[in-house]
Amino acid sequence: MDKPIRTTKGTSGKVQFVLDNQIISIDFEKQNLKPTTTLLNYLRSLPAHKGVKEGCAEGDCGACTVVIAELQDGKINYKALNSCLVFLPMIHGKQIITVENLAERNGYDVELHPVQKALVETGGSQCGYCTPGFTMSMFAMYKDNSFSNREEIENTLAGNLCRCTGYQPIIKATEISLQYKSTDQFDSNVNATIGQLQQINQSGNSLLISAKDQFYFQPQNLTELLELRKSHPDAILINGSTDIALRQTKKFEHLGKILDMSAVQELQELRETENEIVFGSGLSLEDVRLFAKQKLDALHGLLNVFASKQIRNLATLGGNVGTASPISDTLPLLFAYKAKLRLVGTNRSRELAIEDFITGYRKTALRDDEIILSVSIPKPEKDTVVKFYKVSKRKDLDISTVSAGFSLKLKNGIVEKIILAFGGMAAVTSRAIKAESFLLGKDWNRENTEKAVAILKSEFNPISDARSGKEFRNMAAGNLLLKFASTLKL
Ligand SMILES: Cc1cc2nc3c(=O)[nH]c(=O)nc-3n(C[C@H](O)[C@H](O)[C@H](O)COP(=O)(O)OP(=O)(O)OC[C@H]3O[C@@H](n4cnc5c(N)ncnc54)[C@H](O)[C@@H]3O)c2cc1C
Ligand code: FES
Ligand code: FES
Repeated sequence: MDKPIRTTKGTSGKVQFVLDNQIISIDFEKQNLKPTTTLLNYLRSLPAHKGVKEGCAEGDCGACTVVIAELQDGKINYKALNSCLVFLPMIHGKQIITVENLAERNGYDVELHPVQKALVETGGSQCGYCTPGFTMSMFAMYKDNSFSNREEIENTLAGNLCRCTGYQPIIKATEISLQYKSTDQFDSNVNATIGQLQQINQSGNSLLISAKDQFYFQPQNLTELLELRKSHPDAILINGSTDIALRQTKKFEHLGKILDMSAVQELQELRETENEIVFGSGLSLEDVRLFAKQKLDALHGLLNVFASKQIRNLATLGGNVGTASPISDTLPLLFAYKAKLRLVGTNRSRELAIEDFITGYRKTALRDDEIILSVSIPKPEKDTVVKFYKVSKRKDLDISTVSAGFSLKLKNGIVEKIILAFGGMAAVTSRAIKAESFLLGKDWNRENTEKAVAILKSEFNPISDARSGKEFRNMAAGNLLLKFASTLKL
């Protein structure tokens, strides 16, 4: 360790979690394990958890789906996630549930869980490779009382691929299991599990792990996070790790020093004032999606087609902004909303418009000692329409080829304010400034929109890559503007 860390409580080098109803402690140094060992690889190293499968190791297939149970306000929340994207310390203080834990065993008697029974009933499994992953996504939905409609079932299963069965028997099985919902062994055991999770979490210690040529820090509060950020500016910041984990699993990079923000409660804030909604940078995109359903229609629509539920349970808003990727889906919409970021360091707090935050291809205005604390979205002005569009090869679980965030305010049919922001059209998320200037003060009609389309095509010089050619991107961007116009009934 090059620099010591100061913490308000203590530090611990051990990760603890509940598995098979027992508290498991991992001492990385003694067990000769990398701190960035993925949950998938750890589980598959155990004789009793081979049901967790590796398909792609990059979040795309869902074969590795497990359920994580965590304490929130004294209750247990169940979430499905991709174990291939999770580093072991990220599940400190939580319970891991795999497909092997679902059936109840009494001697030689085995009673399948209702979701397993339903899969058997509908013939929802053939070769079986995908089945543990589907089962765990279904189980998480079974344990969540908020959903039951077909749309949410499809949304929940969108992160699991099956090459054999077709999806209908699996969707049917999910519907059946939700219809016959009753208490299960997890309900009967809930008090014991809560006790175990409280026992692990009571110390409030930050994790500080040094093993196999890696340092892994997981502070428990903002003060410690900022101290560590200042003293270790070279550490790779992670939150959900859905972007960074791929550097290890796909590019085989050695991640020498990690600063994991996922345990910092101050980043989980969700606050609504008269004029704005403030999202903590550590909120999961699934939590943002659920909130946005009532309040921010375009953001809700965007998150419905963002990756999969397993990924959204991990990925954060701060992480999507922090990547500064030209195809980060939230960026064009945040441009359209005129969002602001709160950036904080040990002795500094400043607000920056989202457009000023992105300074180049995957480059940001973040200083070495700062993190993104929150993202504020001003409530759209009266008579302002905000929309998001995404063009990708598949509807579900795909990265954008072109995306767009538009905002328009009309006064008596005349354009008073307009933002046309695009992803995938340049090295950074960009506004079609000339097209916007052309439309300002003009009648919002088909003729003017078509002229604006011609102007915006001349403004961009997109690349051709594996996702699409330059011509397609230009055409798609123009068509999105026409689509926007047609939804507003010209
Ligand atoms: C299968 C798959 C599908 C995907 N689909 C989509 C998609 O549809 N649309 C899309 O836009 N993206 C998609 N992604 C990319 C990724 O999931 C998102 O960018 C996600 O929002 C990243 O969030 P995270 O919390 O996991 O980030 P992390 O991986 O933890 O971090 C990403 C970057 O952001 C920085 N960062 C994170 N939090 C902060 C903070 N608070 N302050 C400062 N910097 C911070 C980190 O340092 C890092 O550089 C997909 C990824 C996968 C693997
Ligand atoms: S192995 Fe494919 S999503 Fe994890
Ligand atoms: S049953 Fe074979 S991949 Fe789904």
